[in-house]
Amino acid sequence: MDFAINLDPQAALPLYRQLYDELRSRILSGKLTPGQKLPSTRSLSKFLSISRSTVTQSYEQLLSEGYLHTTLGSGTFVCQQLPDDLNNAIPIQSTPHKPNSSIPLSTYGASLTDSAMFRLPDVTAEINFSYGRPALDKFPSYLWRKLLSRHCRFNPDVLNYTTDSMGYQPLREAIASYISRSRAVQCSPDQIIIVGGSQQALDLITRLVIDRGDWIAIEDPGYLGARRAFLAAGACLFPVPVDSSGAMVSHLTTGIIPNIKLVYVTPSHQFPTGALLSLKRRLELLAWAQKSGAMIIEDDYDSEYRYGERPIPALQGLDQGNSVIYVGTFSKVLFPALRLGYLVVPHNLTQVFSRAKWLCDRQSALLEQYALTDFINEGHLERHIRRMRSLYDQRRRSLVQSLSHLGERVKIIGENAGMHLMIKIDTALSDEEIVQRAALLGLGVGAANLYYLKNSPGGEFVLGYSELNEQQIQEGVQRLAKVVN
Ligand SMILES: Cc1ncc(COP(=O)(O)O)c(C=O)c1O
Repeated sequence: MDFAINLDPQAALPLYRQLYDELRSRILSGKLTPGQKLPSTRSLSKFLSISRSTVTQSYEQLLSEGYLHTTLGSGTFVCQQLPDDLNNAIPIQSTPHKPNSSIPLSTYGASLTDSAMFRLPDVTAEINFSYGRPALDKFPSYLWRKLLSRHCRFNPDVLNYTTDSMGYQPLREAIASYISRSRAVQCSPDQIIIVGGSQQALDLITRLVIDRGDWIAIEDPGYLGARRAFLAAGACLFPVPVDSSGAMVSHLTTGIIPNIKLVYVTPSHQFPTGALLSLKRRLELLAWAQKSGAMIIEDDYDSEYRYGERPIPALQGLDQGNSVIYVGTFSKVLFPALRLGYLVVPHNLTQVFSRAKWLCDRQSALLEQYALTDFINEGHLERHIRRMRSLYDQRRRSLVQSLSHLGERVKIIGENAGMHLMIKIDTALSDEEIVQRAALLGLGVGAANLYYLKNSPGGEFVLGYSELNEQQIQEGVQRLAKVVN
């Protein structure tokens, strides 16, 4: 194998980054040719005497940036068309009859060609423990229809452009009041920007703060929606491990670390482990951010659902240094297809965010913003959340109870909040085998390994329960028992 590469474990640059740099330069110089197959992560790690996760991380970065592509079952190959070489790109598979296939992609576009990063969960199983889906059959659709038609019939403004890309002012007022009451977020309505869900919030933040090659610290394991947005922007990711008290902030505050510009955290309900970031770590994180100048993204995606514990105030409310950008969404408390969420940004950033939002899509749909304003102001939102909290609590208990029959081999993690929990199964089966065996029984379970940037310990699965009734939950766990036994 001609892959003799000098890596220096003492260097400030992490090993995966050194390997990434070397592979990238060999690709660009033509030493590694388009279409050439790379060694498997296992054999390269053995050859270089480094951990397999280091090689995986380098490959992942090259995949996401469009230098490599994978073909299921065949391996990893150098792309025919390279992101840094678009001017000279001769797309080998293009034909004159298909002009679009020869359009050279931007570096950003090329980074989106890795299908592995964008694999969608299979939700076709008869019983699906898919995570993050609210109980949509319990959403008061009649009420929503009434509010939509109220504004549609009598208010032509909802059909028009607005002059304010930050969102409908009364909605921003209603949200400011709701999150200061329920989440202790400190803000005024003029710090709020209405966006198309958390995903657009993450996209806008990345565009405004990150240049290619900048470092972002992310929880490991962590949310894929954030990781994808960051990698697509060409960021380098610095994994921060997670334990039962949330992200291990000491990994940011001690030792040799790169110059980190952004930190992405889910402090109220770490995704996917369910851990709550301790107060001590919150204060350490804020103090470090203030000192280092890094911005923190607080993704508060489902904090409305805590069971048997007091709600935990948002990190943003503790921030004295304008270091936190708070992200909220209505995807979990109402329904994901609504595509409405909000950002709370420090005062000095409101203008630039408002302009970025305008460039992106001018404004979020107005009719839904008007209806949502009434939904909040007339008390329906908090009533609906109370109802759903009680329903999800019943479903969660039912799941915990059913899982307890599986004995010591199945450990439950992070069950006190949210709409999912995690289990750790003590088994000789691989994650893939478990998912496949479950699928054969009509059961959908998601392995947590895809949420890990570095090594996944294996045997961990995310079980969403919010969408399933108690009978389905019990039946699902019985099928899971057949899989693991
Ligand atoms: C950690 C996290 N943040 C945010 C979201 C919601 O994203 P959106 O508001 O774009 O629907 C999810 C969805 O599952 C999530 O898991």
